[in-house]
Amino acid sequence: MEFAQKIRRIPVYPVAGGYDLGAEMAMLASNESPFAPLEPVIEAARRGLLGANRYPDPSYAPLREALAQRYGLPAERIALGTGSCELILAAGDALLEPGAEVVYAWPAFSVYPHLAAASGARAIEVPLTAQGVHDLDAIAAEITVATRLVLICNPNNPTSTALPLEAIAAFLERVPAHVCVILDEAYVEFSLTVGDPYASLPLLERFPNLVILRTFSKVYGLAALRVGYGLCGADSFRIAVDQVRQPFYLTSAAQAAAVEALRHQDEVERRVVATVAARTQISEALRERGLWVAESDANFLWVRVAQDGDDARVVSALRERGVLVRGGSALGGPGHIRVTLGTREQNEKLLDALAQVC
Ligand SMILES: Cc1ncc(COP(=O)(O)O)c(C=O)c1O
Repeated sequence: MEFAQKIRRIPVYPVAGGYDLGAEMAMLASNESPFAPLEPVIEAARRGLLGANRYPDPSYAPLREALAQRYGLPAERIALGTGSCELILAAGDALLEPGAEVVYAWPAFSVYPHLAAASGARAIEVPLTAQGVHDLDAIAAEITVATRLVLICNPNNPTSTALPLEAIAAFLERVPAHVCVILDEAYVEFSLTVGDPYASLPLLERFPNLVILRTFSKVYGLAALRVGYGLCGADSFRIAVDQVRQPFYLTSAAQAAAVEALRHQDEVERRVVATVAARTQISEALRERGLWVAESDANFLWVRVAQDGDDARVVSALRERGVLVRGGSALGGPGHIRVTLGTREQNEKLLDALAQVC
């Protein structure tokens, strides 16, 4: 079989292994939530399954309405996807083509390089600053008439760092109206720098070319159900990303679970508080042991473990001790590991294992 040229260009996404390793393994490699879904959320998904002989509601009205109410936006400006990952890919499909350009910081979320490779557009990767944050001046300087899409990951994966919204607002002022800006806020609920997950919403009224990307995979703990959403400055983004996809991208069970999850904001806050407490405690413990740890605004840490860049040695030594983390080499940051914050027991296991390894 002769496949399209893009099959040779598209980088293979660095998925974490370990799903077959059993409950003993501390799964700290994929920035998931360590907290199980709430009972009412599971019950809602079960109810969603009862009508599984029918295709799901392709208007996704209950979920879009629930998000519209929560964020004070018209439902027409809520885009949904099979995880926010699918919305990123659909944005690439809808906006990019040969001759077009896409700009993003690097290292950032490992799906971004897929976009240019799949579309034939040109990717411009702008290095993070020495502090591991987006260099917004350098990104702005790369925008040309050919630019169609800019991705800003805040907090950034894999470095865990975040910029304050004032910096992002000032950056948006400099972006021409023809350029779509995706502000990927997959981890924003955990960010003390941003401070409030609603704080970026007023930007949508000032910048119709802005899309704020969120997910149910992180703080809502529904990664396996694959639900992401885009809060759009204009409905044209939602219409375009819906045009490039099949109509049924969210199952009835996933939609029902997401609607129910939104009703439990007290639990969301409880999880954020627990995660931020663990983040402070583990960052300090690692720094006391002489390791460099980035100032994290997310549910994971970015830790320098090998001056010679050989993070693979540390990843495999941790794995032998029952802790699965992600090596920085696969994510654009050799010599680092990215560690998701887990349950109290998993975090302790991580600290013990790291003490033996580096
Ligand atoms: C920055 C960022 N954006 C988007 C995603 C995609 O998440 P999902 O497709 O599960 O919504 C991730 C997942 O790790 C991420 O780190």
